[in-house]
This record gives sequence, C-alpha cells and structure tokens, in this order.
Amino acid sequence: EKGGYEHFMLKEIHETPRVIEDTLFEYLSEDIEIDASFSAGISEIVFIACGTSYHASLIGKYLIEKLSGIPVRVEFASEFIYHHPPMHRALAIAITQSGETADTLEAMRIAKKLGARTLAIVNVLGSTATRIADHVLYTRAGPEISVAATKSFIAQLIVLYLIALKLSRMPGSEVSRLVEELRIMPELVRKILEREDEIREIAERLAGFENMMYIGRGIGVPIAMEGALKMKEISYIHAEAYPAGELKHGPFALLGEQTPVVATLVPDDTYEIMLNNIKEVKARDSIVVAVAEENDMEVEKYVDHVIRVPRTEHIFTAITHSVALQLLAYYAARKRGCEIDKPRNLAKSVTVE
Ligand code: M6R
Repeated sequence: EKGGYEHFMLKEIHETPRVIEDTLFEYLSEDIEIDASFSAGISEIVFIACGTSYHASLIGKYLIEKLSGIPVRVEFASEFIYHHPPMHRALAIAITQSGETADTLEAMRIAKKLGARTLAIVNVLGSTATRIADHVLYTRAGPEISVAATKSFIAQLIVLYLIALKLSRMPGSEVSRLVEELRIMPELVRKILEREDEIREIAERLAGFENMMYIGRGIGVPIAMEGALKMKEISYIHAEAYPAGELKHGPFALLGEQTPVVATLVPDDTYEIMLNNIKEVKARDSIVVAVAEENDMEVEKYVDHVIRVPRTEHIFTAITHSVALQLLAYYAARKRGCEIDKPRNLAKSVTVE
C-alpha cells in the first residue's frame, strides 16, 4: 500500500501534485466556484486550528489580509476555548485535516455560541467538524496515513488561496493572473520532487545536529514554523522557528556551529533584509541552508547550501518552500533511523483536549 515508497510520508509528499489538481478541480473551472456567502456582512475572520493546520491558518491570514483587506486573527484552538475572545460579526474558519481534533471541535462550538458564523476546511468526509460547521469546504488530499501532515497541508493552502482570491479586492485581471499561476503549481511541485536527491544530501548533513533554527520574514515566517514542526516531529531534532528580525532580541544567543539555520527566502520586499539577516547568522558561525529560487545567483555567495525551488509569485512560495522543507525533514529523519510514519508520543488525530 506504500506504492513502492519506504514510508507513507514520502508517498504522500509525492501525491501532492495530484492533490493540488484534485482540489483545484473541485473549486476552480473558468472561475473560482466557492459560494462566498459565508463572508456576507462579516467584519473580521478568526481562524481556529492546531499544529500544521494552525500554520496553514497563519498563511491564510497573510493571504486574506493582503488580498482582501479583511482583518484576520489566528487562534490556537486549545487557547480559544479558554479565553473566549470577542467575536464581533466574525466568521470563524476552522482548519482540520481529520475533522476530529477535540480542541478544534470545541472551539467551533464556542465560536457558534459567541455568535460567529463557522466555516470548516476539512479533509475527511463526513467528519464531526463538517457536522458542526455552517459551511464546509473540502480539501481533496485523500486519506493521509503518516502522522506528519504533508499533502493535506498543501491542499489546505490551495483552498486558502481560492478563498483569498475570491474575497480579493484586486482588479479582475490581477486575480486571473494569480489563478493562472495557481494552475501551474502541480508542475512546479513535480519539479521539486525531481530534485529530491539534492535535498536528501543536504538533509543528511543536518541529521547529526540536535538543534536547528528556521527563519523567515513575511509569508516566510509561517513557512519556517511549519518546516520546523515537521523537523522536530519526525526527526526529533529540536527545531525552532523565528521571524528573522527577532533573532537579535534573544535567539542569537543560541547560534553557533552547533546550530544550523534554515532560511526561507521569498522573492518580495523582504528579500534584501533576509540576506542581511543571513550574513548576521553566518557571522555567528552557524551553517546556513537557504531555500531560494532556482535562478537566484546572489544567495549562494552567503550560505553553505541552497535548496532550489522553481520561481513563482511570492505568495505561492508557501507551496514550493513547504514541499522542500517536508523533504528536508523526511530525509533527516530517515538518516537518523526514526520511525517516520509513527513518531513517538504522537497520534494522527488528537481526540482529547
Ligand atoms: O486533523 P487536524 O488538522 O485538526 O490535526 C491538527 C494537528 O494535530 C496536526 O496538524 C499535527 O500537528 C500534525 N501531525 C503535524 O504534522
């Protein structure tokens, strides 16, 4: 059932191009076919989720605020249920692969009681979340066996791009341009998978370390957070993620030759300052691995290793960089001989609060 792959995780990463196609097919033909009535009359959006789905929510916030101007908050479901934040004319969007995460379900019930409308982005058909929510959008990732969320995360992002584009106040021509770019994502992910060996080699060099730091700016922050989560979850390397600008407010003290740094370089107005941050990190003797565009000839002057991803619009780097970082975590864990599909102490769906 692993289709010739050594682990479900690797098989599922390789299913990503098809998952993107299937999820796009569901909601995109000529136009974006999402009934956006869930957004009528709302003044804010509040995401509620856990783990990887929480990181998808952070990317959702970035996209929706940037494209539509609607204010967005992101709450850990496990915190939301205890602090009952104000929900004034809010749309609560729950993101959950399983549709069974106890904290997320409870947060949805509370959001409803607080008067919010609810939308759930769910992978598992007919799961509890789909029965609680007022509106449901399905991701088409298919069953995900490995505890680490991979293809389902990318499918969540696809739905979030479509929502953000649907709610966008940009001119129609600009929306169409981004939609066309989205349609080529399966192709771009295939290109990353073709270069898997390069990522494996870098991962194997990192596998002997016990601490790592992931850094980014802008949309690169949640990309870094998700990359670090994947690394710690399956390889047991302690990996932390920070906005690059925060390093000098404390985490710099952790850097040095024992702590490699993974930097996600997004081709937008954060690029130059990220290069500066990388120079600062190098000055502290950390090994730096950058995730950067394939035609970026600048970055290699400053870092030890570059993971190349195809060029795309900056908002879509959440897809390309995340797939690369999933592979990085996978091959580091494999080198360390970890039980990748069933990491210690973890369950695929967390049905207790
Ligand atoms: O099923 P859900 O999306 O609600 O699950 C949320 C988290 O438990 C999940 O994303 C977890 O963080 C993954 N194992 C991470 O790879």
